[in-house]
Amino acid sequence: MANTNARILSTGRAYPEGVLTNADLEKLVETSDEWIISRTGIKERHKAADGEYTSQFAVRAAQQAIERARIDPSEIDLLICATVTPDQILPSTGCLIQAELGAHRAAAFDLAAACSGFLYGLTLANQMIRGGQARYALVIGAEVLTRYVDYTDRSTCVIFGDGAGAALVGASEGDERGILGTRIRSDGRYAEQLYAPGGGTRLGITADNVNSGQHYFRMKGNELFKVAVRSMADVSREVLEEAGYKGEDVKLFIPHQANQRITDAVANNLKVDSGIVYSNIAMHGNTSSASIPIALDECVEQGRISEGDLVLLASFGGGVTWGSVLMRW
Ligand code: COA
Repeated sequence: MANTNARILSTGRAYPEGVLTNADLEKLVETSDEWIISRTGIKERHKAADGEYTSQFAVRAAQQAIERARIDPSEIDLLICATVTPDQILPSTGCLIQAELGAHRAAAFDLAAACSGFLYGLTLANQMIRGGQARYALVIGAEVLTRYVDYTDRSTCVIFGDGAGAALVGASEGDERGILGTRIRSDGRYAEQLYAPGGGTRLGITADNVNSGQHYFRMKGNELFKVAVRSMADVSREVLEEAGYKGEDVKLFIPHQANQRITDAVANNLKVDSGIVYSNIAMHGNTSSASIPIALDECVEQGRISEGDLVLLASFGGGVTWGSVLMRW
């Protein structure tokens, strides 16, 4: 299968019905709708109810993508679930999703790269398809982040939401469409800018650790902000340059939905027109690995992408991790 391109054939998305508005948060912590909107752009976010869990949203998003690609789940060779909020420690959420979908031939696993997880997964799927190891790959980003949010910490509880997005990636031979370039990076020296110390083997699941909230997210928002803008812009520029394009050539730019001010700063840095930058942060907040595939599916639904358009994706997240993918739709 030499000269095979990998292309996103279809997408899907799902989220909990439950919504947490800024007004709801005003009742929980000392904050205001005005502060949250001006500092983040977020108005509301979806929140899973007790009893709802990550793979449920992943399966719904994946089923949409599979139906739209008109393939049978048994044709999927690779199933990647990007998540930092798995259903359980063992087995992987990917395997649980695989069983629900009936994707019995797939190699299924989880990928933990926080908000960059979907682009990490897309990068792996691209290589597996180009190398002839897979014909169809399902890349999912799915999170129930609100389970790890401390609703007494105003600096984090306003940011995160829940949901899932999926992309069915397939081989597309002999045309110009598909993934043109990918770049993924990480730097563990910044691990403590966004982390949850408890719940693993280091600070185990003891009553003391749970009671003192060791499993909750902690974030140095201010420092993260600067690293996010710089690294997303740098890696996007690298991917564009390598493929022979400039920011002006991009028809749709979907950055990870972390904060409207980060999105604006990255777009400005890359010199892409604000009109081609997609944002849904107001309605979803930051859904980590789910944010880009949810946004992509919304763009497809709204007719914001046409065949042949140059589409740029960029992400940044805990780890820290970051990446960019350029594709011709
Ligand atoms: N409501 C009201 N005030 C708040 C608040 C809230 N929800 N959260 C923090 N504050 C306060 C702080 O306590 C601080 O008060 P102080 O000056 O009295 O100490 C003040 O606002 C400024 O805090 P700071 O952290 O400097 O604010 P900021 O402008 O950097 O905005 C974030 C905070 C979190 C919105 C911003 O840093 C951010 O979005 N960073 C990136 C986070 C991110 O995207 N993370 C995920 C990456 S994938």
